[in-house]
Amino acid sequence: MEIELSCNSYAFESLTVEPFNAEPPRSALISSYVTPVDFFYKRNHGPIPIVDDIESYYVSICGLIENSKDLFMRDIRMLRKYNITATLQCAGNRRTAMSNVRTEEKMIMLSPGLTSYEMQHAVWSGAKLADVLELVGIPNLTSVTRSGGKHVEFVSIDKCKEENGGPYKASIPLSQATNPEADVLLAYEMNGEAQYSVVALFLVVWATSCLNPVELTSWLTLNSNAYSKFFLSIIMPKPLNRDHGYPLRVVVPGVIGARSVKWLDTINILAEECQGFFMQKDYKMFPPSVNWDNINWKSRRPLMDFPVQHNTETCWLTVRNLLTRGRECDEAWKADPQLLYNLQAKVSGYAVSGGGRGIERVDISVDGGKNWVEASRYQKTGIPYIADHMSSDKWAWVFFEVIIDIPHSTQIVAKAVDTAANVQPESVETIWNLRGVLNTSWHRVQVRVGHSNM
Ligand code: MTE
Repeated sequence: MEIELSCNSYAFESLTVEPFNAEPPRSALISSYVTPVDFFYKRNHGPIPIVDDIESYYVSICGLIENSKDLFMRDIRMLRKYNITATLQCAGNRRTAMSNVRTEEKMIMLSPGLTSYEMQHAVWSGAKLADVLELVGIPNLTSVTRSGGKHVEFVSIDKCKEENGGPYKASIPLSQATNPEADVLLAYEMNGEAQYSVVALFLVVWATSCLNPVELTSWLTLNSNAYSKFFLSIIMPKPLNRDHGYPLRVVVPGVIGARSVKWLDTINILAEECQGFFMQKDYKMFPPSVNWDNINWKSRRPLMDFPVQHNTETCWLTVRNLLTRGRECDEAWKADPQLLYNLQAKVSGYAVSGGGRGIERVDISVDGGKNWVEASRYQKTGIPYIADHMSSDKWAWVFFEVIIDIPHSTQIVAKAVDTAANVQPESVETIWNLRGVLNTSWHRVQVRVGHSNM
């Protein structure tokens, strides 16, 4: 008896070089709650800029405010540092399935060949935008400035062809930007990674082993300032990496990734939302009847919270034989056919909803959606996950898993329900749209169970 897994959970990373886009295999994403930086998808619309002189780098805050200000990195680092655990998701996540339904020219926003697993989860560290805006005289919970500003535009350093060679930009409402509970960050670190220089560590080991304790103490007393600087330099968390926005990026939790502008250059307070291409043309969802001949760009608002209304969660699943692991399954079966007499599979994956809503339920079906069982959900090991509870990370994805009998070849289906009772739509056909965004339909994995001659 054999079981063949025909899901493509072990897809290789796909790349486009210009602009640089990459994504991890889906299986890598559920290997840990916080995604290692190497497994982060990279989504760019222009070449990645290089900021090499960090001392002279600053962000200008200007527009409809009384006093404009330039903030250097040291000013931003002086503000209270927050660590926010948030899942970032591109609006084009799973767009390949949408283009399989009907492909229109220019539908795929970036490059063909990408399989579209554009989701990741990090601990972002930096200053809250609400605190930064207070520095220019905009109090918390402001929805309009005295000069009529209602939107906060983020303008980047990178330039892209869609903006006719101008910078990438996006905006969020001022009420969200000034709300400390919205956790919008100007992030300068991710995943709190410390950098340990090998040379520095060697020097520490050498000093502690070669100098006697009295010498060491007197050296430390005399050089306490230099020593603390040196020590700090080896344990300081790593800055953001270049691909993800070094030295400073915006992170807007619960909102499509396109609004989390990397390589921040300017914060502009505006009366209207940003008029850039990625706010006014791309990253909008049109009805299925709209095509390139009848499109009216202004008829729809820019996508913000992911996903919209009732198509609220995205949930992926991987299927593994309990005793072997996916792609090695066949080899292991040849080596020991007994292994595959067990026809239970572990169905696992992640589910997430926008706007800070938790995941209320994940349902799994092994008969294509007729009958369902509920999967268990978790975020951190040892802490039960309760949607919308203080102990849960509200901007974060939730892992789910269930061990289930697979009696015969079938389609395994998963769907998630969020705390506002929004349920994923059944089929991608019903939510097809010209730009291929927000495919939140049930995710399906075909499995084939057969019989061997052995
Ligand atoms: N910011 C700038 N400056 N330029 C970009 O091309 N891409 C956006 C957003 N911020 C983009 C940007 C999009 S579409 C997404 S999904 C996320 O960044 C991806 O972030 P990541 O590459 O760090 O994963």
